Amino acid sequence: MKIVVAGGSGMVGRHVVAVAQEHGHRVVALSRATGVDLATGAGLAQQLEAADVVIDVTSTATQSAQQSRQFFGAVTRNLLEAEGAAGVPHHVALSIVGSDLAPFGYYAGKALQEELVSTGRIPWTILRATQFHEFAQQMVERFRFGPVTMVPTMTSQPVAAREVAERLVELAEGEPQGRPADLAGPEELRMTAMVKAYTAATGIRGLVVQIPLPGGFGKAMRDGTTLAGLDAQHGVQTFAQWIDGLSAAR
Ligand SMILES: NC(=O)c1ccc[n+]([C@@H]2O[C@H](COP(=O)([O-])OP(=O)(O)OC[C@H]3O[C@@H](n4cnc5c(N)ncnc54)[C@H](OP(=O)(O)O)[C@@H]3O)[C@@H](O)[C@H]2O)c1
Repeated sequence: MKIVVAGGSGMVGRHVVAVAQEHGHRVVALSRATGVDLATGAGLAQQLEAADVVIDVTSTATQSAQQSRQFFGAVTRNLLEAEGAAGVPHHVALSIVGSDLAPFGYYAGKALQEELVSTGRIPWTILRATQFHEFAQQMVERFRFGPVTMVPTMTSQPVAAREVAERLVELAEGEPQGRPADLAGPEELRMTAMVKAYTAATGIRGLVVQIPLPGGFGKAMRDGTTLAGLDAQHGVQTFAQWIDGLSAAR
């Protein structure tokens, strides 16, 4: 198959590209670094020729609902339009558990993305996953100010990005499914505990400070809205095993 991975250089995108290549597929990874700006659509059309499926794992680092809707709205519309023109028969998107119930902040863009995909003309599959183990690393990269890392008060069910990628490629290889079961990690953890474990394992010094985010988004982080339901599938690798892998690699 020819599989196009939108956001193929990202945290989960790199795994999607690797897994798809291991499965013997022809893979085209799209990102601004490869000359394709999906927010404008520049350079996109020719990359979709003869594609069997597009997996969208793009993202933007914002907590603003307006910016998130602008990004996911533009990227999704551009992808779906170009897929329609190229005759691509399947669009796979990665979303987040809880984005429908708490369409605030970053999740507002994910809710719009889901709406556009599920009401569009291209046969579709949307997988919702919980936070990756690697989300702890993203927290440090994005919310570390001097020696202090700010972390929202939040319970999560972290799942390995590699396992999410394996599921996305499996879904891309099959028929469009609409909404398959959500994918969550094997256990519930506090986000502060995850970030503290990550900083300890990687030798990053400083304070990890827990902050209850205001508004509906903060409430959703705290009240379990972002946890998967009873019908979810579960990944196997625990957060502690992922941390052990980081420590061993140092
Ligand atoms: N992180 C999590 O814990 C988590 C959990 C569940 C679901 N998700 C979902 O998984 C998806 C991927 O998340 P991630 O954390 O892996 O993202 P990420 O690491 O931030 O990677 C984002 C990717 O999008 C690309 N990109 C950004 N703007 C672009 C543009 N204008 N044109 C083309 N490419 C662009 C980036 O490449 P360039 O910057 O080079 O363009 C990069 O390849 C998101 O939709 C997110 O909502 C994430």
